[in-house]
Amino acid sequence: MKNTLIAPSVLSADFANLQRDVEMINNSAADWFHVDIMDGVFVPNISFGMPVLEAIARHAKKTIDVHLMIVNPDPYIKTFAQLGANNLTVHYEACTHLHRTLQAIKAEGMTAGVALNPHTPVHLLEDVINDIGVVCIMSVNPGFGGQSFIERTYDKISTLKEIIVRNNASTLIEVDGGVSDKNAVQLVEAGADVLVAGNYVFRANDPVETVAKLKQQTCF
Ligand code: DX5
Ligand code: ZN
Repeated sequence: MKNTLIAPSVLSADFANLQRDVEMINNSAADWFHVDIMDGVFVPNISFGMPVLEAIARHAKKTIDVHLMIVNPDPYIKTFAQLGANNLTVHYEACTHLHRTLQAIKAEGMTAGVALNPHTPVHLLEDVINDIGVVCIMSVNPGFGGQSFIERTYDKISTLKEIIVRNNASTLIEVDGGVSDKNAVQLVEAGADVLVAGNYVFRANDPVETVAKLKQQTCF
């Protein structure tokens, strides 16, 4: 049976009750905390930075998956490791020397992730696929929670899966943006291993039950 990982996106949490929402994820069937960091340059929004990540990490009891939507991530890699990030994902579009950046992330003991904007083809990762622990396929344009899912994502996942298999890589495929019970099964059938969900989890009447259902629905 496939163990699909569920990663609630803290971007959709209630920041005035952040500890409560972190504990909710701790007590749910979720596998990872997905933490979105935006700089207002790479994406047209600013979320939060190091102090908030540090506060989350103080309470989080699960893998912390940091998604950097920032230009020039290299100078901050060490800091994110010190703050408690387990996975550090950078954007393909933000890294001129991606191979170097991936080595630097791994040298700090973190899993190296690469995120792709909706317009970026997955084949661009072929030559570094063995260096990537997780590819985050954006199924919305990054910057905001609560946007609608881009249908083309299924094809991108299948093509990426072929690349991973062809290269004997153990890279996980993560999908980020507009994920819900409407598309989760089809995403996993296409090859997704990790589902990020922001609004679908945090806007639900019962977030714990919503995570449990998503987990149950996608582990088959
Ligand atoms: C978007 C972020 C996502 C976002 C997902 O830029 O990277 O992680 O929080 O939120 P939903 O699931 O609401 O689309
Ligand atoms: Zn994200």
